[in-house]
Amino acid sequence: MSSRYPEVYAAWQASPEKFWAEQAEGIDWFRTWDRVLDSSRSPFDRWFPGGQVNTCYNALDRHVDGGRGAQLALIHDSPVTNSISRLTYRALRDLVARFAGGLSAQGVTKGDRVIVYMPAVPEAVITMLACARIGAVHSVVFGGFAAKELATRIDDCTPKLIVSASCGIEPNRIVAYKPLLDEAIQLARHKPDKVIVFQRDQQRAHLEKGRDLDWVDVMAAAQPVDCVPLGSNDPLYILYTSGSTGRPKGVVRDNAGHMVALKWSMSGVYGVDPGECFWAASDVGWVVGHSYIVYAPLLHGCTSVLFEGKPVGTPDASVYWRVISEHKVAALFTAPTSFRAIRREDPTGSLIGRYDLSGFRTLFLAGERADPDTVQWAEEKLRKPVIDHWWQTETAWAMAANCVGLGALPVKYGSPTKPTPGNDIVVLDPAGQPVAAGTDGAIAVKLPLPPASLLTLWNNDDGFLDAYMRDFPGFYKTGDAGHIDEDGYLYIMSRTDDVINIAGHRLSTGAIEEVLAAHPDVAECAVIGIKDALKGQVPIGLVVLNAGIDKPADQLSAELVKEVRHKIGPVAAFKTALVVSQLPKTRSGKILRGTMRRIADSEAWTMPATIEDPATLDIVTEAMRRAGLAL
Ligand code: COA
Ligand code: AMP
Repeated sequence: MSSRYPEVYAAWQASPEKFWAEQAEGIDWFRTWDRVLDSSRSPFDRWFPGGQVNTCYNALDRHVDGGRGAQLALIHDSPVTNSISRLTYRALRDLVARFAGGLSAQGVTKGDRVIVYMPAVPEAVITMLACARIGAVHSVVFGGFAAKELATRIDDCTPKLIVSASCGIEPNRIVAYKPLLDEAIQLARHKPDKVIVFQRDQQRAHLEKGRDLDWVDVMAAAQPVDCVPLGSNDPLYILYTSGSTGRPKGVVRDNAGHMVALKWSMSGVYGVDPGECFWAASDVGWVVGHSYIVYAPLLHGCTSVLFEGKPVGTPDASVYWRVISEHKVAALFTAPTSFRAIRREDPTGSLIGRYDLSGFRTLFLAGERADPDTVQWAEEKLRKPVIDHWWQTETAWAMAANCVGLGALPVKYGSPTKPTPGNDIVVLDPAGQPVAAGTDGAIAVKLPLPPASLLTLWNNDDGFLDAYMRDFPGFYKTGDAGHIDEDGYLYIMSRTDDVINIAGHRLSTGAIEEVLAAHPDVAECAVIGIKDALKGQVPIGLVVLNAGIDKPADQLSAELVKEVRHKIGPVAAFKTALVVSQLPKTRSGKILRGTMRRIADSEAWTMPATIEDPATLDIVTEAMRRAGLAL
């Protein structure tokens, strides 16, 4: 079958506003928009201004009213608690309406922020949708972040209320969330009025009198409330992501554009129909979870799987195949690292044959580079199409994809294929000029960005301009580098900033450096992301100690690893700090991180002409060799 992609992309190019106005018919409006696009304050472009909508209404009530009430909306499959629970659209709508009433009873109203610090339980989804129902702005913080990171987010978005759970369950331990939250609130300058805690049987939490409320009590006392009409561009949520510095960036998403683009992506990108089951194996704390566990599948009338487990070890490498067959999953979206983990445990794919995957159509990969080896292994073992697609927290949906719903294009390994309708992707040189096909450069998107793209950074318009808009006027700087080949296929090769990608999670080496530098024995440090066979990248630190410190290197390294775990969280996967006597620098004092990374990864490298002292590279190479790197 030939692909409709060229024709649909051309239709978008010919008239972007007409294209998105047509897609906007896929959602219900309380009031239609005055204009499709307002570019008068570009780059603060706004889609569908003047319209009134409610995201929760479109995700739940509309389906109940339209006859989908008895269809499953959410399946919580939790191998870590050995349980599966199911909610129909009607049941989910009723719980959300009631919890929204509970939030209102605590004084939460339109525009108030609510932080959600929860594991992958249905109550997290209920909270997000309840906020959307009353126009409160949720900000979900991933459970693998530590108290200090949570405190930073509390101070930045100043929530009126926080919703949390007593614990999360990792395969090797129970993670007590509540003490982390208590510590974060203590560290933060801003204090929430109330905390609602969902008590889990695995470990109950102590509730502080006067401030903390039990989820069950809030629900019991609450009256269900209706959806509130919201402006198209009112914020739906804030989601923090890593940038170059330790200060996380609060990406702000709107209501209308977000719904329009996400709804289109379910059919256009993923080729999934209403009524089918969609599974994004991620966490609600990441953008993948926001877009493809919660919002897009529900907006499209699908059944969504919320998975509380890991690709391996819960209990073994067959769990993905069990979930797909048990819930009749049509499409799975995960990060390549999951498949590397499965392959490592079951290299021949022998566990796949134990399950009926006949209803499963497509595997989608994103979050990090899909290495051709992993893609080909998955194709061969599953005998299904494996689709790489590329996007970011900032965009909420794919900027480049092989749009299965339009008919897939031929796959080129290592490429997420071509720009999706809505995205005009270019590769620029440092002066902002387009480069020739096949030449690497900074990847940018011509403005205006499509619907669902970030409105700004929370309380930080200038940071938004600085991070994305100033380097290449008229374009959005993605922070990724790569090239476009002669057939128009895009290749994402690396980042242009200090962001590294650990198991599909985005973290800032700058933030880890800040933690190391704060240790009293550390004079200076550098953190680099090195290759890892499972997680894609992991961070390592190189530290120079203050004069006169004679602490054993092992002890210092253990202290630093503990500090990063305590201040950023286990998700940073920081396990190695090497003590060196000097760091390699240019004559102007810039640390040569790129050269050190190449040495650690055993890649070819050349002596930088600007290096101040070549012997410093021998020093770090030697330290890396002792740690089993730079072989
Ligand atoms: N709450 C608390 N701690 C958490 C957590 C959470 N929600 N999620 C992860 N952690 C902890 C883990 O327990 C682990 O701690 P440890 O150092 O004590 O072992 C650490 O954070 C790193 O976790 P993780 O990245 O899950 O690594 P892992 O080694 O436990 O598992 C994989 C490796 C590949 C199985 C795992 O990374 C994975 O499932 N990746 C899938 C990719 C994915 O979901 N990406 C999301 C974006 S699409
Ligand atoms: P996040 O905002 O956490 O989703 O991380 C986004 C970043 O992950 C991107 O800027 C890329 O660096 C990387 N990324 C996501 N998807 C892909 C992909 N398909 N190929 C290569 N890199 C990717």
